[in-house]
Amino acid sequence: TGGVITLDPGYKNTGSCESAITFLDGEKGILRYRGYSIEELAEKADFLEVAYLLIFGELPTKDQNDKFHDDIKAQSLVDDDIRKIVDAFPKSAHPMGIISSLTSALTAFNPGSVNVDSEEDMYKSVVKIMGKLPVLVAWTLRKKQGLPLDYGDKNLGYVENVLKMMFKSPNEEYKQNQILVDALDKLLILHADHEQNCSTSTVRIVGSAHAGLFASLSAGISALWGPLHGGANQAVLEMLEAIKEDGGDTKKYMAKAKDKNDPFRLMGFGHRVYKNFDPRARIIKKAADEVLGDLGIEDPILDIAKGLEKEALEDQYFVDRKLYPNVDFYSGIIYRAMGIPTDMFTVMFALGRLPGWIAQWREMRLRKEPIGRPRQLYIGETERSFIPIYNR
Ligand code: SDX
Repeated sequence: TGGVITLDPGYKNTGSCESAITFLDGEKGILRYRGYSIEELAEKADFLEVAYLLIFGELPTKDQNDKFHDDIKAQSLVDDDIRKIVDAFPKSAHPMGIISSLTSALTAFNPGSVNVDSEEDMYKSVVKIMGKLPVLVAWTLRKKQGLPLDYGDKNLGYVENVLKMMFKSPNEEYKQNQILVDALDKLLILHADHEQNCSTSTVRIVGSAHAGLFASLSAGISALWGPLHGGANQAVLEMLEAIKEDGGDTKKYMAKAKDKNDPFRLMGFGHRVYKNFDPRARIIKKAADEVLGDLGIEDPILDIAKGLEKEALEDQYFVDRKLYPNVDFYSGIIYRAMGIPTDMFTVMFALGRLPGWIAQWREMRLRKEPIGRPRQLYIGETERSFIPIYNR
């Protein structure tokens, strides 16, 4: 009605938040975790170091890092009742649905109602979920492939063991591929946090009701599943496959992406914040080239992706709307080179985002933020009287 909207003075703004965890500048394409650039962390740190940094605020000392690693490994056994829940899922169940349910099931065993003011209590919950989620991820894949559920090898590093648990064949000696280990470590680092994105905001708002950590994470996993968010990495590969099946005609798909009457979007392009190249996409594109080159894999999907990127960067529609490749555009090509099926790509995103969600949940609780309740602007009917049904 054009009236002036004033928020009542007692209103606690829960629509936005202050955070000291991740800084990003969408115009300049800058991303930093606790002040460290993503480029440096992706090159020089490993995933557990970055997880520790995000959650506790500082890079760990050698002793802290070793203890973090050991404590996580000690938590990597999963209750046999959870294994029974994994067995109960039909093979057709989507991996994100399995992971979300299993994370929620962990809450049944441990409400995750963490006493955030107790460093020890918080640390125990962190290592518990950091230890168990990789097992649940690996078991989800093996379940869908009809393979026995396996714990891998506790003497391996965190990321190495994720790959071993996922791919160890019951019949032959498992050979570790360091190129893939390094690539997965980098991918998990690049996905570890991203400020107040949809799934992280979900974790924060669910946690603001003082729901347990694991329940809040389960909600975040469900939000990430959406194809406009983390589900985009799966949608990108499905799109690239469709273009390949259709003869590789990228121009046809560019035209579809610009046609207002066509619901088709160029998945892996565009971002709510980045109006420049997503710095993670730059690193992942380079890593995809390196991994496929080192492994001697000729993947026509990568060529189609590069062709689409080139066309989009030169197309006025995309230039005007500042649409650039985002984190999801190239990541699936590396997952594919690892032998990870497309419907597991978003699960890998969740595995990477886990420390960021934990860090943001902990920050929100330590700051004793009020229960989340974003404002609305009411645009519905003004008051009216009830009409009995026989008069309607
Ligand atoms: C992630 O927030 C985060 O940080 C998320 C994330 C993280 O790390 O947590 O970075 C991870 O979710 C990355 C984004 C993955 N999603 C996709 O790749 C799906 C495809 N992208 C789009 O759906 C879209 O770009 C969004 C959802 C990512 C962003 O949407 P916005 O900011 O709401 O932009 P919009 O929908 O308002 O679009 C603005 C214009 C529109 O055209 P006009 O109406 O102005 O004419 O750009 C167009 C859109 O039609 N547009 C696209 C497009 N994305 C936007 N046109 C074609 N293809 C696209 N991909």
